[in-house]
Amino acid sequence: MSDRVLGAKISATASYLPPRIMPNSELEKMVETTDDWIVDRTGIKERRIAAPGECTSDLGYKAAKKLLDDYRIDPKSIDLIICATFSPDFLFPATACLIQHRIGAVNAGAYDVEAACTGYVSALSIAAGMVKSGEMKRVLVVASETNSRIMDWTDRNTCVIFGDGAAATLVEPTEPGKGILGFFLRSDGGGAELLEMPAGGTRMPASQETVMTRQHYLRMKGKEIFKMAVAGMSDGVTNLLQRFNYRREDISVLVPHQANKRIMDAVGKRLHLSPQKVCSNIERYGNTSAATIPICLDEMNRGRVEGLMLKSGDLVALTAFGGGLTWGAGLILWE
Ligand code: UT7
Repeated sequence: MSDRVLGAKISATASYLPPRIMPNSELEKMVETTDDWIVDRTGIKERRIAAPGECTSDLGYKAAKKLLDDYRIDPKSIDLIICATFSPDFLFPATACLIQHRIGAVNAGAYDVEAACTGYVSALSIAAGMVKSGEMKRVLVVASETNSRIMDWTDRNTCVIFGDGAAATLVEPTEPGKGILGFFLRSDGGGAELLEMPAGGTRMPASQETVMTRQHYLRMKGKEIFKMAVAGMSDGVTNLLQRFNYRREDISVLVPHQANKRIMDAVGKRLHLSPQKVCSNIERYGNTSAATIPICLDEMNRGRVEGLMLKSGDLVALTAFGGGLTWGAGLILWE
């Protein structure tokens, strides 16, 4: 291990969205809702749904494999794989291990990080720390969610919002002061019941009763979370700007967790950013929880978000809020 403090950067990105599109019109036939309500209250027009039998490690594997192929990276050169997910294949083993095996990363450690929709920011903070310390050289952060499997498709409060998707980013060394600058992470377990899956863990193991009462699905008190999300997501960015001596107008692009277009707009407004600087693809994918931010990064990196193509020197602010409760932000000087 080197005792020199290094920098860490995101050196490669890739994403995988399952091809099956579920438009709002399909949900109109499943629960009492309308396309107008969903678009108006969330900004979502359609979401992707994994194929039957396709689960979180499959989506994560496809994103990771695309990254390795596109950038010609030898999987044997990867030191660590961190998978951010709250819809893992199993309680254990870790989804990261399943991805590690399939990509042939035989020299990599692997583990999952569960911080719900803040999962990617949390996992990226570990990856950056590992690389900056000199402990590791190549860390693959995979964020993958098959939310359609943990949705109660009879609950209109949740099933209209979430979607499936995955993205992978590679973290490698760079010069100090460049690349990933730092993070702001917070949590409040006092709000745990606001976004939860009550059954299937050790508190309420699976039983006939838990299945009958539909307790193996995601439950959310969305209204309560809404305000906290706006405050937490903007405070995180403000804190980082102060710490790293930047002004709000220095931000080239804000990448908010894609939970609800109204939350994203409110955060952009609080930070006095023009709407053009706020990355949004929620209308196409809905809320893919931990995967929303890296999917945005990949789409911008590949010029797939209108008006937002990431370039060297851009100041990129990431910000998320999710179950736990967890929230956090990250600041990156893009290379
Ligand atoms: O990603 C992790 C963190 N999660 C979030 O950040 C989510 C934050 N919350 C939200 O995005 C929003 O609160 C929701 C999209 C979940 C809900 O939107 P809202 O504007 O807060 O709606 P609401 O819960 O206040 O409900 C307003 C009305 C209610 O009817 P009444 O009581 O006014 O008659 C609901 O029953 O809308 C009704 N409603 C719906 N109507 C049609 C709730 N869901 C639906 C629906 N279709 N899908």
